[in-house]
Amino acid sequence: MNIRRVDFAGSGVSDYIEKVRLLNAGETKRYYIITYGCQMNVHDSEHLAGLLLQMGYISCDNKEDADFILFNTCCVRENAELRVYGNVGALRELKERHPGLKIAICGCMMQQQAVVESIKKRFEFVDIIFGSHNAQALPGLLYRALTENGRCMEAHDDEYSIMEGAPIKRDSSFSAWITVMYGCNNFCSYCIVPYVRGRERSRRSADILTEAKQLAGQGCKEITLLGQNVNSYGKDCGEISFAELLRRLNDIDGIERIGFMTSHPKDCSDELISAIADCKKVSRQLHLPVQSGSDRILKLMNRRYTHDDYLHLADKIKTAVPDIALSTDIIVGFPTETEEDFMQTVQLYNQVRFASAFMFAYSRRAGTPAADMKEQVPQEVKKDRLSRLIELQTRCTTEFHKRYIGNVYPVLAESVSKRSSRVISGRTHCGRMVSFEADSSVIGKIVNVKITQLKANTLYGVLVQP
Ligand code: 5AD
Ligand code: SF4
Repeated sequence: MNIRRVDFAGSGVSDYIEKVRLLNAGETKRYYIITYGCQMNVHDSEHLAGLLLQMGYISCDNKEDADFILFNTCCVRENAELRVYGNVGALRELKERHPGLKIAICGCMMQQQAVVESIKKRFEFVDIIFGSHNAQALPGLLYRALTENGRCMEAHDDEYSIMEGAPIKRDSSFSAWITVMYGCNNFCSYCIVPYVRGRERSRRSADILTEAKQLAGQGCKEITLLGQNVNSYGKDCGEISFAELLRRLNDIDGIERIGFMTSHPKDCSDELISAIADCKKVSRQLHLPVQSGSDRILKLMNRRYTHDDYLHLADKIKTAVPDIALSTDIIVGFPTETEEDFMQTVQLYNQVRFASAFMFAYSRRAGTPAADMKEQVPQEVKKDRLSRLIELQTRCTTEFHKRYIGNVYPVLAESVSKRSSRVISGRTHCGRMVSFEADSSVIGKIVNVKITQLKANTLYGVLVQP
């Protein structure tokens, strides 16, 4: 595949940034971004915020104060889509009261032409639409929306380019997302992602390492590598393997924790497992979506592994990295799923005892093979299976958490509790959330916490001296 690698500085985007800046000169303009979906989208929104900041906008905490509202959308499941329709619709009145307000919708939903047409028809007050490959089009589109009133500006599909050096406004100073690859080639039969995010394309390892070193220089302690299937990093362009990338990142001074998501079990190689075991900075939480425990359903899903393959892999990982916390994604109610298929998922659950899981009812996505399968599972059946699985997961998580009580763990202090300014939340190296008493000066630091109790699946602890 021919990837076009573009440097932000030479891309011409800066010209539009300057034009919008001049238009806004002398006035404080405010933006409000609403992000739906996965960490990729959260990170994309950090880039969009970076562009807006350069154009002279500052962020604000509620829509009523904003001059520019941006929805960064997700289309993986129907309920995320319905929320976008509901929330955009609710802006009609605000736009009438504040005609200078500009509204934009971007992200995965906007990669589907039928959805774009429906948005334009239902919400004629939307000013800007662009797809998930086109963040850098925002300055040009915003300039045109501000100067050519009354038409919806659109940009779609620059699928095979990777832009380096784009502005960014990161949400945290001590924990950062780094995209290592875009897109997905797997075409799991339920999933819309390969259609909206395009084919796999990796960033150059040199660019990733430079970004990580810069972050370390700015005091960042934790990086999380992002991609739909990070295990196949580099295969599209002859780069080093993902395992080797982890080893090189592990050598960077200042970076103390390295996470990554998401991994496909079929690509979770021995080389990767050894790298996780060897690299002490690599997170002891591994997210390894299994999706189903039934071989028949896994085949229909096009996952390319079996129940036993997964068990074997989970055992291998637990043996090589004994303190690992395995987490997963599960879909219940995939077309044709019987009670027997579901019980195989329950069985797999009982065999692996996941530390945590994201559990979903199958959502029909137009354009994917599973959407056309005749035997769709009724909504009530999906709901019933989902609640049974959630119950099982809650029990597994409790059992998993009990082992932490009485021990001391390094915890990265992340935020102050909403309930009390003296209560801090942080995460252990295996991704467990812990609450403990301390003042806010610990935020961004790794501190030692002794776990003392477990309440409603939240771990509580006390700060101890190093
Ligand atoms: N319905 C329900 N869940 C889905 N996922 C992806 N597509 C669908 C769908 N059509 C889930 C998978 C994936 C996670 C990000 O979202 O479990 O791992
Ligand atoms: Fe979707 Fe499968 Fe790709 Fe994950 S690996 S993004 S579930 S197609």
